[in-house]
Amino acid sequence: MGGTGQADVEGFALSQQPWGGRFGEEPDPLIDEFTRSLEFDSRLFREDIAGSRAWAKALVRAGVLTPEEQLRIDQSLQEIQAEGRVWAGEDIHMAIETRLREKLGPLGGKLHTGRSRNDQVALDLRLYVRAAGARLLEALSEVELALITRAEEHVETVMPGYTHTQRAQPVLLAHHLLAYVEMLRRDHGRIADALDRADVSPLGAGALAGSGFPIDRAELAHDLGFGGASANSLDAVADRDFVLELLSACSIAMIHLSRLCGEIVLWTSVEFSFASLPDALASGSSMMPNKKNPCAAELVRAKSGRVAGDLVNLLMVLKGLPLAYNRDLQEDKEALFDGVDTTLACLKVTARLLQGLRFDRDVMRKAALEGYTLATELADYLSRKGMPFRDAHHLVGRMVAEAIATHRGLESFSLAELQRFSPLFGADIVDHLTLEGALESRDVLGGTAPARVKEALAHVKA
Ligand code: ARG
Repeated sequence: MGGTGQADVEGFALSQQPWGGRFGEEPDPLIDEFTRSLEFDSRLFREDIAGSRAWAKALVRAGVLTPEEQLRIDQSLQEIQAEGRVWAGEDIHMAIETRLREKLGPLGGKLHTGRSRNDQVALDLRLYVRAAGARLLEALSEVELALITRAEEHVETVMPGYTHTQRAQPVLLAHHLLAYVEMLRRDHGRIADALDRADVSPLGAGALAGSGFPIDRAELAHDLGFGGASANSLDAVADRDFVLELLSACSIAMIHLSRLCGEIVLWTSVEFSFASLPDALASGSSMMPNKKNPCAAELVRAKSGRVAGDLVNLLMVLKGLPLAYNRDLQEDKEALFDGVDTTLACLKVTARLLQGLRFDRDVMRKAALEGYTLATELADYLSRKGMPFRDAHHLVGRMVAEAIATHRGLESFSLAELQRFSPLFGADIVDHLTLEGALESRDVLGGTAPARVKEALAHVKA
């Protein structure tokens, strides 16, 4: 039996491994160092204490602890919480238990009755996911709010809409910003949905087969604020779907942020000049005095890959794992923590960038007209007058070719010139050959017509 130090019962030293009874050798320092997790799982400090406090109460109801013993354990756990951290142990669970036994002596050794670190860590992780999910939802709302606020300011700002990064048709800037609101609303739904399924308590599953003590698992789940207790003890200790689901929701949200921030990078380039960042939100170059770089937006764009990596990391940890608990599962934590930390930071940064972004209405409007973006209006006009759309498309294509060859815009064609192409053009064409006319004509549900965009704005605000 290895280990020396203060003993709380005969032969069981506090500094010794908790499983020391079976072992005849001291742990190899290399293996010990490699298998420990306290360095990162100490982030579950509060969750672990909350779980232990609820567990002690369940042990009273199961007749394992007296109410007085539970009170003393609860007191000590609160003291440990106030101490703010623990120092010694292979993981957070052992470190807190060790501290408890330092405080309480043999009574501290009763807390783990009927419990395993396997159901304990599964619980801690679910508690962490619950809190992290709530913070993510809040941060998502902040980005949505920033987008909606900016959209409200720009219900009249026209910009070129793009496909293939080529100017395509005019759209309202508000419409463009509201597209991101839709994405983030879906992210919101995905996180809420993940939290819904995470809302199950694994505590009382024991190591894998169920606790050997008459624990009222439903009541325990209720004490911890869960909707219910898990139905199968093997699944309870082996399941990390709830982590995958949160990381998956984070990954998709990060992909959305990467697209938004990617556009901020484009828009703030001199080539686009659609927007600029306040100096406080940009960075300079160490060599080129002229540079003002959108570094924060670039980093959000890049960090989306990191969060997707966290998701794939955990997927690969879980792939092919036999039931039930395996130590592989210890690798879930760094992926989860990093995914949540990164997503939260990126949401906050993106909200700030959106709040500060200064849009140049004139540049956007000018760009909206360049690129023959009214061509579809002409083709639609001819179709409405009875020409088959394919023919109209071809005819307007010829008009665009002529416009390109003669260096003019389609909107500068006179009625007589238009009629050279088709007698179907009438005086009312002038209503269609303007940015406003083009916007008005996209008057379908979800379209960029100003009335539709205002409707959409009112809808997302409600
Ligand atoms: N540190 C472990 C983890 O994070 C806790 C559970 C360990 N259980 C065990 N039987 N070794 O997964």
